[in-house]
Amino acid sequence: MRQASGDDLEGVCALWLELTRHHARLDPHFELRPGAEDEARRLLAAQLGDPDSAVFVLGAAAEQGAGAAPLEGLAIARVDRAPPIHPETCRAEISDLFVAPAARRRGAGRALARAAAAWAEARGAERLEVRVSPHNPEGQAFWRALGYGAHMDVLHRRL
Ligand SMILES: CC(C)(COP(=O)(O)OP(=O)(O)OC[C@H]1O[C@@H](n2cnc3c(N)ncnc32)[C@H](O)[C@@H]1OP(=O)(O)O)[C@@H](O)C(=O)NCCC(=O)NCCS
Repeated sequence: MRQASGDDLEGVCALWLELTRHHARLDPHFELRPGAEDEARRLLAAQLGDPDSAVFVLGAAAEQGAGAAPLEGLAIARVDRAPPIHPETCRAEISDLFVAPAARRRGAGRALARAAAAWAEARGAERLEVRVSPHNPEGQAFWRALGYGAHMDVLHRRL
């Protein structure tokens, strides 16, 4: 478990695409546009360089060379600050969490979420949010097992 750097971009991108394809199988809303890989790479490169974001990965550092095993897990977190209107002025979100199928149910997801939470807390976040689809029963079970509960229903309607 370690915080990723810009050197991890290719491995992070590969896991992020795997996660997004997983979500697309559950809900077509998450399908990728043709050519989305380049856009995703740009977005992830920006997150890797943003002090208000952190990417945690499970796996060997990229500098171990082309022979290094692929990354097995990924968590992306971001802190958001708000003007001082409510008591809470800083919260965080884990926007992406993925563990490769072969590495599941061994505590990796829990460790990634814990690392992201510790990072967010150290930056002043008072609360951590995650968005999880109702079509994703394993994600629902995972977050609830870690003590996360409903906060706000997001309603939507196709236009
Ligand atoms: C959700 C995910 C990250 C869990 O990773 P993991 O490494 O298997 O999780 P852990 O081993 O740390 O599990 C912690 C606890 O979560 C719960 N849990 C995890 N996966 C579960 C599943 N498939 N069904 C029911 N409960 C589950 C269990 O209580 C588990 O504890 P236990 O193994 O002691 O029973 C992984 O299944 C994954 O990447 N899924 C696809 C992507 C995804 O859905 N991400 C979350 C999107 S919001």
